[in-house]
Amino acid sequence: MSAPTGDIGLIGLAVMGQNLILNMNDKGFTVVAYNRTTSKVDDFLANEAKGTNVQGAHSIQELCAKLKRPRKIILLVKAGPAVDSFIQQLEPYLEKGDIIIDGGNSHYPDSIRRTQELEAKGLLFVGSGVSGGEEGARHGPSLMPGGSTAAWPAIKQIFQKTAAQVNGEPCCDWVGETGSGHYVKMVHNGIEYGDMQLIAEAYDILKRGLGIHESEIADIFTTWNKGVLDSFLIEITANILKFNDDDGVPLVTKILDKAGQKGTGKWTAIAALDAGTAVTLIGEAVFARCLSAIKDERVRASKVINGPQKEPFRGDKQQFIDDLEQALYASKIISYTQGFMLMRETAKELSWNLNYAGIARMWRGGCIIKSVFLGDITSAYEKKEDLESLLFDDFFNKAVHKAQPGWRRVIAQAVLWGIPTPAFSTALAFFDGYRSEVVPANLLQAQRDYFGAHTFRVVSGKENPRLPQGQDIHINWTGRGGNVSASSYSA
Ligand code: 6PG
Repeated sequence: MSAPTGDIGLIGLAVMGQNLILNMNDKGFTVVAYNRTTSKVDDFLANEAKGTNVQGAHSIQELCAKLKRPRKIILLVKAGPAVDSFIQQLEPYLEKGDIIIDGGNSHYPDSIRRTQELEAKGLLFVGSGVSGGEEGARHGPSLMPGGSTAAWPAIKQIFQKTAAQVNGEPCCDWVGETGSGHYVKMVHNGIEYGDMQLIAEAYDILKRGLGIHESEIADIFTTWNKGVLDSFLIEITANILKFNDDDGVPLVTKILDKAGQKGTGKWTAIAALDAGTAVTLIGEAVFARCLSAIKDERVRASKVINGPQKEPFRGDKQQFIDDLEQALYASKIISYTQGFMLMRETAKELSWNLNYAGIARMWRGGCIIKSVFLGDITSAYEKKEDLESLLFDDFFNKAVHKAQPGWRRVIAQAVLWGIPTPAFSTALAFFDGYRSEVVPANLLQAQRDYFGAHTFRVVSGKENPRLPQGQDIHINWTGRGGNVSASSYSA
């Protein structure tokens, strides 16, 4: 048998798989394609991949035989048991140092486990985030690989050439250990939920608040796309709002207001709760989708619960639209601040060595949240690798200060109108909490100690013999309870 010539194998010829193969082929790599239903391999070779260097395989054994060593095989199959099943099928045909790459939207604990299991067998595992949908896969996605560090030199060239490029830099770099690639992709998706929700709230305010028609809202988004909000999601929103049905009515107005979700936003919110990090905006974005989903109940409620009387807007419309742009920008800064706080917390806990400038660089192009804004985040982390939060960076600190008055006016007006702004509002609440030297948690501590003897600590400078410094104190608030405090634990 002739020497194998395949640079990389790919399992799963659905739309993402096919497009990624063609992209890698364009970049000069020989890809071997395999699919469980093997007729798909023949169809692909006879149609989309016709005239390319793509090779087909009709069995896992043939796929492995056609690959140069160390073998590199990407799985683009449904996240979950299918990934484990293909890993199991591959194992008998692999040798030490061969690399299995999971490019699906897998949950990061699975990737941690798979890295450990495969490394114990002498194989290498990479869990890679792949973002950008069909278009990104075909012409340059954002790729976020993490896992067995020893795999990176072997896949680096293929990955970085296949990824989107911004200013000559690839939107792909090594993320870090075990499940970190999929973790970072999960946070990307959470941020995607947040960005989408903010845009939806801005649309709602423009439509229901100011009474502007979709075609004009499209123009507003087009203008915003030339400024600080310049991003893929703002661009496609303008296109969506301009898109009319055959009768000339904006198609978006005919779409049922019930949002779906596949779960990556929810995973991010759960991860945030587990890490004890206040990632409130992504949480609200997930809950907003949940509230949207109970359409029938909302319809019934709308018949019996009244909001405020709608007053026509009497202020300066253009000023309000400019305020809204600033509100969206400031809320976005908060959302990314929270997302990076979460990654930092988890990295600490799992001993991952994450490069935050590198992550922002990977998200600048190719992916759904790609934007000019991510270039500014890259610069912030390049200036200071261990930046405590984006709000401590000069650029973002100034930006959020400049946005603040308009941001407050927009939320205040929306509250008066009775238009819900969960993402805008939670961003502002976080901002006001984060910049507060004192928050009312002293009262929470007193309540906990009152009803459950959960103890509290005393503010420095307020100590006395009854309230010693640096100790967990329990006070008998009522004179009835005992003096024994509850054992302490942190959830
Ligand atoms: C991407 C996207 C993608 C995700 C969809 C759908 O980066 O290309 O994040 O991975 O699956 O956006 O997500 P929901 O169905 O949960 O909205």
